[in-house]
Amino acid sequence: MTTPPPARDLPGTDPAHPRPGQEFSGEVAAYYEEFRRGYPPPVLEGLRSAFALDADPTTGDLALDLGCGTGQLALPLAAHVRTVIGMDPAPDMLDRARAAAARHGVRNGLWLLGSDADVPALAEVLPARLALTVIGNAIHWMRHEELFAALRPATRPGGGVAVIANGTPVWAQDSDWSRALRTVLEEYFGYAPAVSCGTVATDRERYAGALAAAGFTEVRESVVDYQGELTFDQLLGTVCSAVPAPSLPAPAERAAFAARLRAALPPGPAVYPEHVRVAVLTGRV
Ligand SMILES: C[S@@+](CC[C@H](N)C(=O)[O-])C[C@H]1O[C@@H](n2cnc3c(N)ncnc32)[C@H](O)[C@@H]1O
Repeated sequence: MTTPPPARDLPGTDPAHPRPGQEFSGEVAAYYEEFRRGYPPPVLEGLRSAFALDADPTTGDLALDLGCGTGQLALPLAAHVRTVIGMDPAPDMLDRARAAAARHGVRNGLWLLGSDADVPALAEVLPARLALTVIGNAIHWMRHEELFAALRPATRPGGGVAVIANGTPVWAQDSDWSRALRTVLEEYFGYAPAVSCGTVATDRERYAGALAAAGFTEVRESVVDYQGELTFDQLLGTVCSAVPAPSLPAPAERAAFAARLRAALPPGPAVYPEHVRVAVLTGRV
């Protein structure tokens, strides 16, 4: 048995876990960029119309993607606003987001190293300026009550916050291959992987209550469903993107890790179907 990593809920508050974002470094950031799901276009379209986002290059809107990671959400969002601020405490994730923006010709991104703890100071200099703050698969790392309270006065009338859960983790789905994956990960790491990354209904009800308590109105959740499928390499890469960097099997052990996962999964064609539900919780000013 290995020792489980420290609780992942409140990074920055646990002395054993002093720096937010530190799990997302080095190869984990590379796996994240290559293998994590992006966001389907209806999610972006829904945000654009819900908050009347304006992409005019001189008078348009400002959006914040907090916990932007490698840019899965910030990059497509950039097309709908004048400027998107991608903010993340993990330098390797942020570097990749910035480099991806350059590769894709996205020139209206501002990439800031920072965490939810920096949002009150950011909000001070942006009174009623943010049209939208998005938080994709990252709220579980943050002090969400303080965060929502800080974002409320920074948000322009008609703007809001969107807390997005981009599907169920690959090891927590209701399918034979996902259950087998969960079991083998538990055996390998010696502890059960988290079933919620801000994704389960009870967590989302807490976030909804906190948005309302911070003064956001019309708090509601919409969903975008689609069917996807993963090859074995995509499944392996997704798992490696979710392992805290210090626990990632060493490069020399990676082939054995892959073989162990493959052997544990149900036999048959190595394609793993999944139902992906993207849940978008919004609140408005
Ligand atoms: C699972 S990734 C999500 C990345 C991206 N938003 C997406 O939807 O794919 C979580 C991100 O949250 C960042 N993060 C961790 N703690 C944070 C905090 N306290 N404040 C802001 N971001 C944080 C991590 O560095 C990581 O890039």
